[in-house]
Amino acid sequence: MKSATTRAAAASALAASTAWKALQRHATTMQRRHLRELFAADTQRGERFAIEAAGWYFDFAKQRLDARTLELLLALAQVRGVPERVAAMFAGERINSTEDRPALHVALRMPRRRRLLVDGRDVVAEVHAVLARMAAWCERVRTGAWRGHTGERIRHVVNIGIGGSDLGPVMAFEALRHYADRSLDLRFVSNVDGTDFSEAVRDLDPARTLFIVCSKTFTTQETLANAHAARRWCLAALRDERAIARHFVAVSTDGGEVARFGIDPVNMFGFWDWVGGRYSMDSAIGLSTMLAIGPARFADMLAGFHAMDEHFRTAPAARNLPLLHGLIAIWNSNFLGMQSLAVLPYEQYLKRFPAYLQQLMMESNGKRVTHAGRAVGVDTCPIVWGEPGTNGQHSFYQLIHQGTRKVACDFIGFCATANPVANQHDLLIANLFAQGEALAFGKTAAEVRAQGVPAAQAPHRVFEGNRPSSTLLARRLDPHALGALVALYEHSTFVQGAIWDIDSFDQWGVELGKVLAKRIGAELGAARMPPLAHDSSTNALIRRYRRQRTPRQ
Ligand code: F6P
Repeated sequence: MKSATTRAAAASALAASTAWKALQRHATTMQRRHLRELFAADTQRGERFAIEAAGWYFDFAKQRLDARTLELLLALAQVRGVPERVAAMFAGERINSTEDRPALHVALRMPRRRRLLVDGRDVVAEVHAVLARMAAWCERVRTGAWRGHTGERIRHVVNIGIGGSDLGPVMAFEALRHYADRSLDLRFVSNVDGTDFSEAVRDLDPARTLFIVCSKTFTTQETLANAHAARRWCLAALRDERAIARHFVAVSTDGGEVARFGIDPVNMFGFWDWVGGRYSMDSAIGLSTMLAIGPARFADMLAGFHAMDEHFRTAPAARNLPLLHGLIAIWNSNFLGMQSLAVLPYEQYLKRFPAYLQQLMMESNGKRVTHAGRAVGVDTCPIVWGEPGTNGQHSFYQLIHQGTRKVACDFIGFCATANPVANQHDLLIANLFAQGEALAFGKTAAEVRAQGVPAAQAPHRVFEGNRPSSTLLARRLDPHALGALVALYEHSTFVQGAIWDIDSFDQWGVELGKVLAKRIGAELGAARMPPLAHDSSTNALIRRYRRQRTPRQ
């Protein structure tokens, strides 16, 4: 009897396509080849399998592929209509089919001179109008022209948001901290756990604190709970409703909800339903980023995004960095059986980058049906995870080197550092390069024996190698490089979604939990134990929690 997965695969047009089958056949050959062989057969491999775009050098020579693999992957992209889908995205077509809207984050970084009409409106002009308002407001806060209710200068800024309204802003702030105005102290609150808010504000002076409430919908439970907590905290100290106007600004697509919360729409920065939450860090959701680094550097970041966009839109397929990055991800997960992707930045400032990518990639492509609602029939998004190097080396790299699970790795590094400390940057980058080399080439039993390792220990000391990785290298981490890097991953994610024919811009999978949490929230909040109609496990958890919880304050 066939398993459900096999039946789904049989039903899937993708798995049945000639291009897919050709790759499967090719994969059986490639599975038998070791990276040691591939490098030995081609002394130019390091240069041949590397390209450059928008300041990023992408070395994919240590991936388990050859020229034929690339040919077949590029053919797959053609038959899956990737070029047409890219064109449709840039043209503002409604490519987010289940929500019937465009996914037009590329318009957020188009230069002012460009025009792009969506439903008869020039979205580029609207984008630049918001950017100009953001810049004017940021300058007022940065220069001290904008004051708190009691006339104090703003020194602390707390961004309240979750998901795309948090991960992008906090990642960008950390990444660009070197360029930030250090007289402004930025903090980020996302979790509905009251500890997040309490710890963020415990040492702050309300008279000098400003809250940026970021929410595309302005209905997200966590964000509203934290925004209300902030409001109470602010009013408890400043004792005047008028203080809200000086201490709260909002970023949202919904002016009505913002007004209902009590923030004056004059203090609101808008964006549009065609910007997905996880694609919004370069919209007004990036207000905290602009506040930290200033409007000019924010513009540099947008230019970096745009440079990668233009490369993606115009470069020939065989030299197209995001396209190849996305196709290699397909190769690894669908043909070589890699279940996860580790993103390993050798740059402390990128410490939040893996968390940012988790939402970008897994919320975009963690789907099981196509646009038309049929089973994709093959595996979709790999599990994305990671930590900055070198810390990860002393933790989970053991599994990457010698474990039984297969992990593809993206190493990210920079040639120059903002913080030279003796030779530490050389040490950092030596570790990055060493990891890629060790994963690819390993250490054979013969090499281990030749080192005089006792026979009983030899199996433990062998590294089989042939573990694929790519390396992304740029000159230095600056706003331009960050913008280009994020755009690269956005487009790679898009390419993968296009191959699987899934809607990379919806997120229906988060809905069920939200609905159940509302129902359980009411049951936890009820004065007397209500009748419970969940499963026996959930019922027991609710009863136990009600018996043992912290008394309400
Ligand atoms: O988790 C679901 C989600 O809708 C994300 O896609 C989004 O980034 C996040 O919630 C926050 O949404 P909002 O910006 O509307 O508060």
